[in-house]
Formats: sequence, C-alpha cells, structure tokens
Amino acid sequence: NNKLKIGLFGFGVVGQGLYDIIKGQDLNLEFTKIAIKDPSKPRTLPDNLFTTDHNELLDNPSINTIVELIDDADVAYHIVKKALSTGKNVVSANKKMIAHHLEELVELQQKYGTSLLYEGAVCGSIPIIRNLEEYYDNELLHALSGIFNGSSNYILSKLYNEGLGYNEALKRAQELGFAETDPSLDVGGYDAKFKLAIGTAHAYGLFLNPDKIFNIGIQNISKQDIKFAKEKGFKIKLVPTAKKVSQRQIITFVMPKFVKPDDFLFNVENEYNGVTVQAAFADQQFFFGKGAGGHPTGAAVLSDIAALRYNYKYEYKKHHQNANILQTNNISLEV
Ligand code: HSE
Repeated sequence: NNKLKIGLFGFGVVGQGLYDIIKGQDLNLEFTKIAIKDPSKPRTLPDNLFTTDHNELLDNPSINTIVELIDDADVAYHIVKKALSTGKNVVSANKKMIAHHLEELVELQQKYGTSLLYEGAVCGSIPIIRNLEEYYDNELLHALSGIFNGSSNYILSKLYNEGLGYNEALKRAQELGFAETDPSLDVGGYDAKFKLAIGTAHAYGLFLNPDKIFNIGIQNISKQDIKFAKEKGFKIKLVPTAKKVSQRQIITFVMPKFVKPDDFLFNVENEYNGVTVQAAFADQQFFFGKGAGGHPTGAAVLSDIAALRYNYKYEYKKHHQNANILQTNNISLEV
C-alpha cells in the first residue's frame, strides 16, 4: 500500500483549494499534518491537524510527501531542502523560491533520490511544465512566451475593457486572491520572470538566475497608453519571452507589449494565462487556462501529487543533444 502521507505547509488560497478538491475523493492519500503560521485564525478542520512547528512534519518518519504552499520564499527554501535531503518527495507552487534555487534543488534530488515537482508554480492550471518536459523533449524550441501572471493581466483587462483605474483594478485582483502578498511582484513583472526562468529550464535545459533576467512591469502604463492601443486596435499585455536568436543564443526578458488581434494572447483576459510555444517542427502551439486561484492551482498541485505515485521526475532536457550548446544573453533587448 503506497499511501501518500502528506505534510502540508500552508493553508492559504492554494492549500485550501487543494483541500477542497481532495475532500470526498478516494485517492489513497491523507493530510497527516498541516503547518500554519497563524494558529489563531479560525479553521474549518480539527485543531489537532494543525501545528506551527515545522519539525512535526519534517521529522515525522511516517510523512513521505511534503506539499509546500507557503508564501515566504526563504522559509520555503529551507523546508524543501530539508525534505529532499531526508527522503521525502516534494510538491511546491513557490515560483520565487524555485526560480532562485532550482539548480541546487535538482542536485539534491539526484543525490538523495527524491523528486520535486511544481506544475502549480507556472501558469496555474496550464500543464506547461509537463508538456515542455515530455512532448517537446526532442525539439529545440524557437520561443516560449505568453501571459504568465494572472494579476497583471486582470489589471490590464480592467483598465482596457472597463476603464477602471489602476489602483481599483489591483485592489480587486487582491480581493479575488490572485495577487501575491507583495503585489509589486505581480505588477513589476517579477512573478512572470520567475515563471519564465523555470520554464526556460524545461524548454532549454538552462538554469538562469532570475536576477539577471530583464523585466519591466505594468505600473507605468498610463491612460494614454491604453487609449493609443485602443485607437490602433491593439491590446497591451505583459509578455515574458525566451527566444532562440541564433544557433547558440537564447534571450530572455519580461516586458509589456502591444498585441495584435491575430495573436493568441489578444483574447487572454482577466486572470487567465496563455502560453505560446514556437517549436522547430511542431510549429506554433497555444495553451490557455486559469493562471491563478485556489482551485485551478490546487488542481495542478494535485496532478503533481498523483505523479509522485509513479515516481515521476523531471529530466530538464538531460538527454537533449543540443541543450548544452546553448548560452544566454539575459539582458539583451529586442528592438
Ligand atoms: N500572483 C500570481 C498571479 C498567482 O497573479 O498569476 C499565480 O502564480
């Protein structure tokens, strides 16, 4: 009986979303313990399930799986490192933490024979990591781009379609639970950049330091910019891009961009995300879905939990004959 005994870190939007999805289903798994930050918050589950002591999960030998859904990237890093080094598999949705520490976490998995999966960290419900890993395993992609941040896309949609003010639109995105605790990560293009860095590891086998990837956000988009876009029949979208510019070079950046009606991204509105893949032989493909929110992200997390049953591990283009010839020039700009 390979019952998954889960130690869950965090019971916020995504943790609760995951719990809702799992509740009532017979999946041969249990939440053995849930670590939370604030014990005084009212909870819908029995008190004895919760703890504030991380070691009650990490040092519990009966817990074989850690699901890490907390906000703080530094705390998450220590949790995930310890779990992977002590024989526990991990599912995480912490894009900031993963983007900054991926290379080290991959080495830890190899050393200890554990697995870290994080489909929920990149574009919520869209299964882009699994597709980059498996479907495109033998293709050298020309480009990976899209709309990777639900909150900034929500704000841009409200500015454009409803004439809402920037602050009001941001407030709504926060109320709906899409935004990060620090919303400057969303509107500044950082969250999209973290997801781009993770995607690039799977698209190209390249581990990039997100601090070296150029990003501009949407904070300075003005009413005039929106008006100009409307007059031309364009929309403004925040588009992270990784693009092969020569045989050996990839450029990566996050920038707001005018998008024309014939672009798939044109109709991606509100908290939805879209991912465009330009492949050498398969040509262009587009993935669309909800990029934020408890249930869509929880669904991706559950998909990873289920994949751990068959010992699924990411390969990062390890077998790709071209992967190691690529280099990046992270701050190059397209003009
Ligand atoms: N703040 C993120 C977003 C949540 O708005 O897309 C999902 O990663």
